[in-house]
Amino acid sequence: MSPIKNVAVIGASGNFGTPITQALQASGFKVTIITRETSTTIHPADISTIRTEYTLEALTKALNNQDAVVCVVGPGGVPLQKTFVDAAEAAGVQRFIIDDFGWGPDARGFPEFDAIHAIRREGWDYAAKKAKDNKNFTWTGLTTGNPIDWAMKKFPLMGFDVSKHEAIIYDQGKERFTGTTLAGIGQAVVGTLQHPEETANRFLKVQSIQTCQTELLDTFEKITGEKWKVTRTISKELIEKGKEENKAAIGGWVLKLAVSHLYDVGQGRGMVAPSREESDAALLGVKEESAEYVVAKLLG
Ligand SMILES: NC(=O)c1ccc[n+]([C@@H]2O[C@H](COP(=O)([O-])OP(=O)(O)OC[C@H]3O[C@@H](n4cnc5c(N)ncnc54)[C@H](OP(=O)(O)O)[C@@H]3O)[C@@H](O)[C@H]2O)c1
Repeated sequence: MSPIKNVAVIGASGNFGTPITQALQASGFKVTIITRETSTTIHPADISTIRTEYTLEALTKALNNQDAVVCVVGPGGVPLQKTFVDAAEAAGVQRFIIDDFGWGPDARGFPEFDAIHAIRREGWDYAAKKAKDNKNFTWTGLTTGNPIDWAMKKFPLMGFDVSKHEAIIYDQGKERFTGTTLAGIGQAVVGTLQHPEETANRFLKVQSIQTCQTELLDTFEKITGEKWKVTRTISKELIEKGKEENKAAIGGWVLKLAVSHLYDVGQGRGMVAPSREESDAALLGVKEESAEYVVAKLLG
C-alpha cells in the first residue's frame, strides 16, 4: 500500500469534521473538502474545496487523485454512504474512513436506536463488501464513543452545567465510561492514515480517557475551588422517560437515551474498550488524557 497524502473530507466543517480537518492539515496531509452543491456551510478559505452534486458520476470526478476519503457527514447524510463508497472505489481511492465516530458494530445501545443504527450499518457493510472484492480498496471504522469535551459542554443533561456550576449525578456516579476528546478524534484519523496497513478493513477502538461522574465532579470542584450544586437522580428513571417519549414520538428521547447509555448502572454500555491497553489508542497516537485535563478544557 503506498503512503497516503491526498485526503478528501466529506462533512469537513461539522462538529467532528472541523477538528479532523485541522488535525489532517497540521500533520501535513493535502486536504480537499467535498461539500454539497446546496451547502450553506462556511469552510476554511485556505483549504481547496469542491462543491459538487452528490451523484455517483459527479463524486467520482471530485474524488479523482485522492488517496483517502474521510466520511464524517452528519446524520442526514449517512444514507449517502453507499454512493460515497462507490464513487471512492471508482476514483481509485485506497482508504475510505466510514462514518462511525460513535459506538461501532458492537454497540450495546437501547433497541430504540436500532433503526438509526441499521442505516449506518448498511454503509459500513457495503464498504466491507467492496474491500473484499477489490484488494485496492480498503476501509476503516473509528469507534470513538463519547466525544467527551464536546458532549459534556453541549448537553447539561449529561451531568454538568459548566456555566452554572451545577451537576446532575446519576445513581452513585460510579458507572465508568470512555470518552475521546475532539483532539483525540482528529488524531485517530491522522493515526489511521499514517498506519494504513495496520488499520485496513477493521474497526478500531478509540479512547483518550476512562472516567466516571464522581471523578469528574470532584475535579470540577477542585479546579473551581467551590462546591457545586448537586441534584441526585436515578438512571432508570431517565431510561423510562426516554423510552416513553420514543413510543409517543415526542422529541428529546434521543438525548435522554444517549445520556442513559453512559450511566445505565452496571451495564458498561459507555465503554468502548475495558482499558486503554485493550483499545487502539496507542497505535493511533491518541494521547491519554486525565480528568484534570478534560475538566480544564470544559471550563476553558
Ligand atoms: N458519538 C457521539 O456521541 C456522536 C455525537 C455527534 C455526532 N456523532 C457522529 O459523528 C458523525 C459526524 O457528525 P457531526 O455532528 O460532526 O455532523 P454535523 O456537524 O451535523 O454535519 C457535518 C456536515 O455533514 C454535511 N451534511 C449534513 N447534512 C447532510 C445531508 N443531509 N446530506 C449530505 N451532507 C450533509 C454538512 O456538510 P456540507 O454542508 O459541507 O455538505 C455538515 O456540515 C456522524 O456519524 C454522527 O452520527 C457521534
